[in-house]
Amino acid sequence: MSTVAPILAVKNIEVIYDHVILVLRGVSFEVPQGKIVALLGANGAGKSTTLKSVSTLLASERGEVTKGSIEFRGKRTEGLAPGDMVGMGMVQVMEGRHCFGHLSVEDNLITGAYARPISNAQVREELEKIYAYFPRLKTRRTSLAGYTSGGEQQMVAIGRAMMAKPSMLLLDEPSMGLAPQIVAEIFEIVRDLNQKEGVSILLAEQNTNVALK
Ligand SMILES: Nc1ncnc2c1ncn2[C@@H]1O[C@H](COP(=O)(O)OP(=O)(O)OP(=O)(O)O)[C@@H](O)[C@H]1O
Ligand SMILES: [Mg+2]
Repeated sequence: MSTVAPILAVKNIEVIYDHVILVLRGVSFEVPQGKIVALLGANGAGKSTTLKSVSTLLASERGEVTKGSIEFRGKRTEGLAPGDMVGMGMVQVMEGRHCFGHLSVEDNLITGAYARPISNAQVREELEKIYAYFPRLKTRRTSLAGYTSGGEQQMVAIGRAMMAKPSMLLLDEPSMGLAPQIVAEIFEIVRDLNQKEGVSILLAEQNTNVALK
């Protein structure tokens, strides 16, 4: 057994929406430090609900963790807000690759650094690092994000999350609606980020083949 505490521990949680709709019951799992854990399941299985429970975004959808506990870096997350979680190093990339369509690819990435007090020079440095992982984004840096391909938008969403320098990334179905080749490319980059940046990852996927690889 490992003696290092997991970065995330979900223990026997129950989630209810609108006070009556029971969606999760008895869900428990851990994400070890620096590892990738995949939550696999079909439509409506509760993957997004699980991720939102972890990031505390659930409250904004009238959902509530009514039983069990969630610990991030050894601290119970009960009563914390999404902004607190970002401050503690957890960033969620929502389902459906949300970008600011009217901003350039580069400006989208820069917004990811806003939560941290860093200089413009540091922002540039970190942008270059993100471009090294996502060379496609470098070539599209001045394009409006709304006019880039679905795969590029997913890259923007992940790259923007990485600009916050998270210790843990929550990825909700990054493969959704994308061609197999671009999905493979994105997952290779995700694995690279995990290995080189040491970021722990909780991934929700319907696409079992890709996720297991
Ligand atoms: N805000 C909400 N209010 C009420 N019910 C909800 C809400 N969000 C999700 N649900 C219900 O909770 C269940 C799980 O949904 P969830 O989105 O977590 O599944 P999922 O595994 O992410 O599915 P998908 O693969 O389609 O994204 C579904 O039955 C869904 O209808
Ligand atoms: Mg979902």
